[in-house]
Amino acid sequence: MSFPQRTIGCGDLRPDAAGREVVLNGWAHRVRDLGGLFFVDLRDRSGIVQLFLDPSRFANLQEIRPETCLAVRGRVERRSPETVNPKIPTGEVEVLVDEYQVLGPSKPLPFPLSDEEQMAQVNEELRIKHRYLDLRRPSMLRRLQIRASAVRRIRAYLDARGFLEVETPIITKSTPEGARDYLVPYRLDPGKFYALPQSPQQYKQLLMVAGIEKYYQIAKCFRDESQRSDRQPEFTQLDLEMSFVVQEDVLQLMEDLTRQVVNGLIEEFGLDKRPVGPFARISYDESMRLYGCDKPDLRFGLPIFDVTGALSACSFGVFRSTIDSGGRIRGLRYPGGAHLSRKDVSQLEAFAKTFGAKGLATLSVVPADVPDAVPAGGLAVKGSIAKFFTADELQAVLREAAAEPGDLLCFVADRYGAGNNVLYRLRNEIGDRCGLRDRRELNFCWVLDFPLVEWDEETGRWSATHHPFTSPKAEDLAFLESDPARVRADCYDIVCNGVEWASGSIRIHRPDVQARVFSLLGIDEATQKERFGHMLEAFQYGAPPHGGIAPGIDRLIMFLTDDENIREVIAFPKVGNGYDPLMDAPSPIDAQQWEEIGLRLADPG
Ligand code: AMO
Ligand code: AMP
Repeated sequence: MSFPQRTIGCGDLRPDAAGREVVLNGWAHRVRDLGGLFFVDLRDRSGIVQLFLDPSRFANLQEIRPETCLAVRGRVERRSPETVNPKIPTGEVEVLVDEYQVLGPSKPLPFPLSDEEQMAQVNEELRIKHRYLDLRRPSMLRRLQIRASAVRRIRAYLDARGFLEVETPIITKSTPEGARDYLVPYRLDPGKFYALPQSPQQYKQLLMVAGIEKYYQIAKCFRDESQRSDRQPEFTQLDLEMSFVVQEDVLQLMEDLTRQVVNGLIEEFGLDKRPVGPFARISYDESMRLYGCDKPDLRFGLPIFDVTGALSACSFGVFRSTIDSGGRIRGLRYPGGAHLSRKDVSQLEAFAKTFGAKGLATLSVVPADVPDAVPAGGLAVKGSIAKFFTADELQAVLREAAAEPGDLLCFVADRYGAGNNVLYRLRNEIGDRCGLRDRRELNFCWVLDFPLVEWDEETGRWSATHHPFTSPKAEDLAFLESDPARVRADCYDIVCNGVEWASGSIRIHRPDVQARVFSLLGIDEATQKERFGHMLEAFQYGAPPHGGIAPGIDRLIMFLTDDENIREVIAFPKVGNGYDPLMDAPSPIDAQQWEEIGLRLADPG
């Protein structure tokens, strides 16, 4: 097909082009037929410019519909002052069209390609089914551009420091990261399967044994796990690994990389974010104690307080019985919450109950001179449970809570773990309600010193907190068999604004230690050999000490674009259940393919 090829991008036209003849290629973004006047906003990747077509010169203008693909030739004109559009960079000019050619006509669209707010009304599955249309929207293009620039910057940073990018296999053997594997049948020996990698973990460690020393990869990972707003079955990691390093080396590199990449992106795209500062560091134990979780949102304070000691002899039955059975009384300040209505407080209690709270006891903190309040130190409290406490107890509670007038103190009486589960969510909820989770701040922090293993009630076994290749801390190794819960790992996470962004660790590089950890995880010798024999063997040929980390690329882009839905930052995402509505995948296979893989569906029933 011959057609007039563009001489300039739509978004690049400025008043200095006035008087020039130009050829533009693009899509009719908006079409306005005002009777005697016909305007088209023409869009290409560079931006949008207004075209004017004189209806008396063109017989068939109704063929130009939204999203028709066009080539136009015309003259650039300055707009008169009253018609300048300050909202777009080309708003001072328009193009008077002499001739046009329809390159690709468009059917009526399944949904209008409008701005973000209106898009929220459009069914998401419909958008993804027609992703090639959805991606035409400038805001989606921008997401892809931010993503591409992030990856480009990561590569530049690591290349400059001697890292080697290496691709590792996609059809391979299972590598455990805690999810179910996607399996691929092996045609030549029916009954055998490849697994898609949940991460390149084993290969990157083998690359360290291979002497690569500094490796990275922008790696696709596959996990058949239940989807959440920040999880896709197929996602991308920056996977990296280094030899001859200790934990501090990985931390320094990763923190510097993050700050350079993120701050560069904030500047390049004019993102409404403050530059990223130094990362705070917190131990796993401290994070659980103060924030109830291992992914604390440190944009705000409001740590959990513990009044178990202060109330050990109190007469409030709910608290007493919890303390007597080994539980704890912990709580949170809700600044300004003293002014909530009874109904609001019950809503807060209902919220806590959805996360397993048995109740939510509250006290309002007021100035000492408020009538009907129970005095406590220089302040006073109100609330139905106030009568159960002595003045000394109340004073101790206010001190532990660092309470201020106007606070609502919220108490959860429960076992430590169950209490954390409620308190961590309640803290984020209070943070939201008090406007303390500032979108402009990207608060990255390190969570360190994770336990090596956790007891899994369901299977009745120890399971790896991170993955089975994580190194126990040297000083805790002696307790591996005698007291596994006490063993901490050289393992670290990066958390941003309350979301886990990266996990990493120093790895085991000695076959004897690796075998001991496998055994602790209930993997017997035969299974070790069958599943991980290659690792145990490789470690016997001069394996170097090594460690690494893997941040999620998709999540990084979500932080930058303020998206709460991971699908927004992926070009072709899956919807719930792992379904791809655009390709209609997964889909049935034909009889010959069944024949080839040598498998049959079991009879139903
Ligand atoms: P982990 O399993 O913690 O560690 O994953 C690291 C990071 O990958 C991202 N991520 C995901 N993003 C989107 N959808 C998912 N389903 C998903 N699962 C994980 C998160 C997470 O923090 N091999 C180790 C890393 C290492 O030890 O070096 C690993 O994969 O941002
Ligand atoms: P009850 O005696 O169950 O009526 O509870 C009295 C008050 O204590 C109510 O405000 C409950 O919400 C609260 N409460 C009950 N159980 C707990 C608990 N485990 N932790 C905190 N508050 C609770």
